[in-house]
Amino acid sequence: MLEMLRQRRSIRQFETRPIPEALQAHLEEALLRAPTSRNRRPWEFIFVTDPALQQRLAACKPHSADFVAHAPLTVVIAADEATCDVWIEDCAIAAITLQYTAQTLGLGSCWVQVRLRDHDENTTAEQYIRDTLCLPPHYRVSAMVALGYPAEQKQGVAQSALTRSKIHRDRFGTPPCTKP
Ligand SMILES: Cc1cc2nc3c(=O)[nH]c(=O)nc-3n(C[C@H](O)[C@H](O)[C@H](O)COP(=O)(O)O)c2cc1C
Repeated sequence: MLEMLRQRRSIRQFETRPIPEALQAHLEEALLRAPTSRNRRPWEFIFVTDPALQQRLAACKPHSADFVAHAPLTVVIAADEATCDVWIEDCAIAAITLQYTAQTLGLGSCWVQVRLRDHDENTTAEQYIRDTLCLPPHYRVSAMVALGYPAEQKQGVAQSALTRSKIHRDRFGTPPCTKP
């Protein structure tokens, strides 16, 4: 696991070859094995491979989603917020489970933030995606993950670049505060 994490980077350029059905089945299984609060499983996963739909998803927000148009697969992660109060966390865990599984299968991926982003001044990115994919109105859209075989090479983050100051022992700070 740690070796995989050392290699992982966000990949936004993909080969055009599709992801084989057998690998997509592994991705589906990984998503469905993601832990959820009280095992409520509030999420839904929409696997999108239709190029016309990919183009539309790429336009869900003005920036930082354009590469979705050229991804062989995009997984949209949505949830019924009435099912679970921590659906945001459940969706985020599913998304990262998907990304890590993809990495172990030789695939690259990148998260695309949808929740709290705007499509334009009148429409949220969530509403745009609900309309595009026929999601019922009570479904919230957390994120999309674009996936495919990498067409760009990126080095894993070097040990020396890790922000070790983010790690604290017993109390916050370095040295830690001395409150009893
Ligand atoms: C919550 C979250 C939202 C993100 N949203 C986007 C996004 O909308 N578009 C994008 O290109 N990358 C997005 N990313 C990817 C980050 O930019 C990327 O993980 C970060 O720059 C670190 O790079 P690395 O993944 O290569 O280590 C997102 C990542 C996370 C965890």
